[in-house]
Amino acid sequence: MSLQDEVRERSLRDPDGFWGEAAEALEWDKRWDKVLDGSRAPFYRWFVGGRLNTCHNAVDRHVAAGRGAQPAVIYDSPVTDTVRTITYAELQDLTARFAGALEERGVGYGDRVILYMPMVPEALIAMLACARIGAIHSVVFGGFAAHELATRIDDAKPKVIVSASCGMEGTRVVPYKPLLDQALAQSEHRVDACILLQRPQAEAELTPGRDTTWQEAIADAAPAECVPVEATDPLYILYTSGTTGQPKGVVRDNGGHATALLWSMKYIYDVAPGEVYWAASDVGWVVGHSYIVYAPLLNGNTTVLYEGKPVGTPDPGAFWRVIAQHGVVTMFTAPTAFRAIRKEDPEAVKMHEYDLSHFRALFLAGERCDPDTLMWAQDQLGVPVIDHWWQTETGWSIAANCIGLEKLPIKPGSPTKAVPGYDIHVLDEEGEEVADGQIGAICIKLPLPPSCLPTLWQNDDRCEQAYFKRYPGYYLTGDAGYKDDDGYLFIMSRIDDIINVAGHRLSTGAIEEVLASHPAVAECAVIGVHDAMKGELPLGMVVLKSGADLEEEELRRQLVQKVRDDIGPVAAFKHVAVVGRLPKTRSGKILRGTMKKIADHEQYNVPPTIDDPAILEEIDEALKPLGYG
Ligand code: COA
Ligand code: AMP
Repeated sequence: MSLQDEVRERSLRDPDGFWGEAAEALEWDKRWDKVLDGSRAPFYRWFVGGRLNTCHNAVDRHVAAGRGAQPAVIYDSPVTDTVRTITYAELQDLTARFAGALEERGVGYGDRVILYMPMVPEALIAMLACARIGAIHSVVFGGFAAHELATRIDDAKPKVIVSASCGMEGTRVVPYKPLLDQALAQSEHRVDACILLQRPQAEAELTPGRDTTWQEAIADAAPAECVPVEATDPLYILYTSGTTGQPKGVVRDNGGHATALLWSMKYIYDVAPGEVYWAASDVGWVVGHSYIVYAPLLNGNTTVLYEGKPVGTPDPGAFWRVIAQHGVVTMFTAPTAFRAIRKEDPEAVKMHEYDLSHFRALFLAGERCDPDTLMWAQDQLGVPVIDHWWQTETGWSIAANCIGLEKLPIKPGSPTKAVPGYDIHVLDEEGEEVADGQIGAICIKLPLPPSCLPTLWQNDDRCEQAYFKRYPGYYLTGDAGYKDDDGYLFIMSRIDDIINVAGHRLSTGAIEEVLASHPAVAECAVIGVHDAMKGELPLGMVVLKSGADLEEEELRRQLVQKVRDDIGPVAAFKHVAVVGRLPKTRSGKILRGTMKKIADHEQYNVPPTIDDPAILEEIDEALKPLGYG
């Protein structure tokens, strides 16, 4: 048995002992009464009765322990030609002052604050400032459109929104204020105040009576102290794609989250306090929350906040420059970033221009990592490349190669084995465990370990429906795959309508809702098709209402624009075909799976329940001009 298996067995046999010990590494204002509370199963709670402050543990604790002069954050922004280092002592001061500015605007314990921010240090400071005063942050990714922001405003009901005048997408300046104004006009909920970071690339005109600049807000704000909160209190809400246009508000608690994340830095990532760690993601995603902000700071690391892309800012050597310049020992990103680099620099010429001798490991997640990309990265870098599997709902990895325990052999295509705390089972339709090598629904036996979602924001029912109902006693991950006879997991696909575009999680159902709202569209289907760089791309098929007299080209343009306006550019929705009808079963279910196979040039069987097999030929013909079918 491997050490990872042994440690995992102990974590499952004695969760109280295992996680209680892990939690000792944090500073608590009051020790917990109970490590694991199952009195409201399937809604389990960790460290009940305990009180702590996550910001204290991520910042103040390190200053008190003598790390004040150590860089906490290195902001590296090739798009604005900036490198800025913030020490732990400076981070403490900035966070305390911004927390004070929030308090002056009436924000306190349990209040929500929405952050709609680009990749700037102020985003991280605002997150920590909320944690400091017991407020709950909800970060909305900058690539989402106004409508998505409005949906989140109405669900989270924030007192204050923190934003910036603009984001930078490569060389493109993206003004945020118009999007913020539109979102506030669309939402029913009213906010008390907005705080806007003015960036020189595009200053925003403030709305009088509502807006203050970040700069003014902190100028004379009184620093706020850390407020101890219940371990079970929410630290943040992070919305993620569900199966409808209404995103799911994943809640993260304070105590379980801090415990699991701190544990992960040592045992999964093998990074020691003081070292430089870099997650090239965005604070708007769960990877950004956990591994740009909370985990590295809880562990006393220096975290790199990179505002740029893997390619084009300015070239495919950008990642290697950052690793070399800042002494990064371990990096975390999505496979798509490596596919983008490889496409532009297949021989990794740029990589070999830098001294990367201090670099120890690359971690990949967010989407399935194709073995080819993994092997290329490993051959070029000469360090272990570790695929690991996780979700917004868990906040940290479910399966990984825990190199801080021991390095297990790498099997390309597999994120290795279950991490301590997780009891993974692959189930068939009836809930029976399938044999090794057989594909099934990947489920986690309850209780989930610390950091995993206690519930969805003010919606226990939806949480139960979405995750706990299908297989009682288990959490449904929504992923399908298999275990091999060494216990290695292989994550193959989703069992729902979620697709993964450049490591970004999207719901095809949500895109369908947008298409269906166009007045000329009678019905539609959206599928995820294979894309060599982004992994998957959404592809739409629409049937027109009879009498709709719009030029096909114009209709396509309008639909593409509508998805961009309603969901955001991040949906990367570019392809839509007009078809005469959609293939359905005799009971009226659209055969999306068969259409996906046609689009991906895969072999398919004509489903026996299909209404009219001739439609499949028509779909094939309609997709060919788009390069599919
Ligand atoms: N604000 C505004 N617009 C944004 C945005 C943001 N924060 N993030 C992305 N967009 C826009 C992009 O500019 C692009 O717009 P376009 O259609 O006008 O070109 C669109 O959304 C799609 O973005 P993306 O999917 O990121 O594609 P890209 O072509 O700009 O870049 C990669 C492709 C592979 C370089 C990029 O996706 C990448 O670096 N991925 C890394 C993976 C990652 O960070 N995953 C997060 C989870 S770990
Ligand atoms: P998100 O919640 O945005 O992090 O997306 C989570 C989903 O991304 C998972 O449910 C998987 O479908 C997919 N995913 C994440 N990491 C991996 C991985 N290493 N291998 C395969 N799929 C992954």
